[in-house]
Amino acid sequence: MEQPKIIIAIDGFSSCGKSTIAKQLSVALGYKYIDSGAMYRAITLYFLRHSVGFYHHGSVVDALQHVNLSFEYNPDRQASDILLNEENVSLEIREMPVSNKVSEVAAIKEVRLFAVEQQQKMGIMKGIVMDGRDIGTVVFPQAELKVFMTADPAVRVLRRFHELYEKNNQITIDEVRHNLELRDYIDSTREESPLKRAKDAILLDNSNLTPEEQLNKVLGWVQQRTGNLQAAEIG
Ligand code: CDP
Repeated sequence: MEQPKIIIAIDGFSSCGKSTIAKQLSVALGYKYIDSGAMYRAITLYFLRHSVGFYHHGSVVDALQHVNLSFEYNPDRQASDILLNEENVSLEIREMPVSNKVSEVAAIKEVRLFAVEQQQKMGIMKGIVMDGRDIGTVVFPQAELKVFMTADPAVRVLRRFHELYEKNNQITIDEVRHNLELRDYIDSTREESPLKRAKDAILLDNSNLTPEEQLNKVLGWVQQRTGNLQAAEIG
């Protein structure tokens, strides 16, 4: 009997390794992986390129009508690239100009409604792992498995610094630390869908876990959930 497919929601602070585990799970389980943060980053890129006033309701609503987001599987990364109006912006959205503004944009109610509606449609068929800040609380409150990730702040800063330094050797640790602290603060204190642990989310601190150890842990939880579903189906 084929394993029933579930929805896996992964939330947590910046640079906790959410996308690493999400990608590992999608490869191991044959699930679709959606990086919801990439959507907020691509919207931010559009706003920056078109000088949209973040705090002007009419401008935001109007701009969103011109934003078309889609995902395209990239076999080299074993994950999807994001397209903004058909342009592949996967690399540009990771750069500092977008990182410095994305949390302000993601706090705007209209932006969230726009993104969440699309995210929910992607989960209709299940077999999906999505990472972000509000996946277990708002996007998929019914998800069968919710994981809330955390890691030591110093570990997170170093991980992100090394990642960014590969592409830009002008970047400094202080700049990265400041960006992570600011985003975590805005994301956790905003009015709309703040980052918080869903009551039924399992806490995963991966400061001292290797990628393989964290995958095995989460796969165990997946197995439990799908096993429960199977048992319920058999009745
Ligand atoms: O990779 P990292 O964890 O640093 O960030 P990300 O997942 O790319 O998300 C970038 C930003 O988008 C976050 O700092 C949040 O402001 C916002 N975001 C959100 O509000 N809700 C989500 N579901 C995902 C991201």
